[in-house]
Amino acid sequence: MITTTTPMEGAMLKLPCLRSVSRNTNFTNRSSNSFPWSYRRLHISASASASASAPLVEGPKLGPGSLGHITRSDFPILHQEINGLKLVYLDNAATSQKPRAVIEALQNYYEAYNSNVHRGIHYLSAKATDEYESARQKVANFIHAAEAKEIIFTRNATEAINLVAYSWGLSNLKPGDEIITTIAEHHSAIVPWQIVAQKTGAVLRFVNLTEDEVPDVGQLRDSLSSSTKLLVMHHVSNMLASVLPMDEVISWAHDVGAKVLVDACQSVPHMVVDVKNLDTDFLVGSSHKMCGPTGVGFLYGKSEILSGMPPFLGGGEMIADVYLDHSTYAEPPSRFEAGTPAIGEAIGLGAAIDYISEIGMQQIHDYEMELGNYLYDRLSSVSDVRIYGPAPSRTVKRAALCSFNVKDIHPTDIATFLDQQHGVAIRSGHHCAQPLHRHLGINASARASLHFYNTKDDVDKFIDALKDTINFFTSFK
Ligand SMILES: Cc1ncc(COP(=O)(O)O)c(C=O)c1O
Repeated sequence: MITTTTPMEGAMLKLPCLRSVSRNTNFTNRSSNSFPWSYRRLHISASASASASAPLVEGPKLGPGSLGHITRSDFPILHQEINGLKLVYLDNAATSQKPRAVIEALQNYYEAYNSNVHRGIHYLSAKATDEYESARQKVANFIHAAEAKEIIFTRNATEAINLVAYSWGLSNLKPGDEIITTIAEHHSAIVPWQIVAQKTGAVLRFVNLTEDEVPDVGQLRDSLSSSTKLLVMHHVSNMLASVLPMDEVISWAHDVGAKVLVDACQSVPHMVVDVKNLDTDFLVGSSHKMCGPTGVGFLYGKSEILSGMPPFLGGGEMIADVYLDHSTYAEPPSRFEAGTPAIGEAIGLGAAIDYISEIGMQQIHDYEMELGNYLYDRLSSVSDVRIYGPAPSRTVKRAALCSFNVKDIHPTDIATFLDQQHGVAIRSGHHCAQPLHRHLGINASARASLHFYNTKDDVDKFIDALKDTINFFTSFK
């Protein structure tokens, strides 16, 4: 357990040029609406619940007619060539692509009923308000919240976490109170709490990784005490691909009277998330990672907690009455939505939810598990590749992404070569997880991340391209 209240310093990753072949990478090797009708009739059974003797990857599910093959046609951006090369998009953990239904919902809003919400009495304003509030209801239904008023639209998930930090954190934390989190959080779930800890005198404590490179929930359980006031934790890691047992963790935190904030940015787009079953106090998600537009995210908060929280930002429709010397505030969610919100984007998020719900989150999850295992298997068979996070097995599930390094080749060189020579888009850098990278003894990694519209062919092209990339760079030695 690491305890700190001060921001961590660290070297920023400098973007290398393509030909900076040999770099000190310092890592070790390890052996180890236009919905297609045909899909409605397709039933993909759960790979995760397959019998213990069944192989991890069951080929036919990934073959022609797979979810990826069928849904690809709904995503116009995927059907283009970049530098004369067919695009293979494997940067979905950073942002997802948008289906035509979402693009059309945005266009329709701006062409047919663009107007401000909650304030006009004319037709356009009423229609925009209805659609905006209907999008809120869709988010609530999607994550199984009890009421739409428990959903607050924010600019992104980062703003949603900051809202909790500044509103709930500043008014509830005092010197000596503990905020527990993990070293594997996204910066967006670390930095706001560093700021709040500095302002309130609360102590920020970090849970480490197990030997299997999963945040250590045993250590977390041991460190909970009556001093713990908040647990901030990701559901699925954007770097390790680990999936945490949030229901258990949340009940442990509640046993000591702590509140819980779940960063669900990497789980909500890929699996069924049920806030009522989880019994979480707060949960944040991001539209742009779940096939929706950028510029909007959401905070879920239990009604009784939200209604006791002060505003985060002032102005606009968040008021009840304004006097010269003071103001009174609207009830949630309006209290937390100061100024004109991202109306078209929220409506676009609603369209994204309609689209992925029609496929079915369980279907999406099962397919991605299968494709993710296939990615892991193929990548781990490439020489000199070191994949981070737990190895998948019958009991250990990984999200459909792999962060990795290749011996003596900088990840940004790999990503650049893959892009320029093969049209394969992956991410390189610290993925907004510098403390985690530092813990692993590296300053950067490459990351290939999948979504349901990816196919086995995408993975095969990536692996072939990676082998070619490794050959290119090793030929200089
Ligand atoms: C785990 C996790 N948390 C938080 C964020 C921040 O989300 P947003 O881009 O909506 O601010 C991300 C985005 O990469 C993420 O992966």
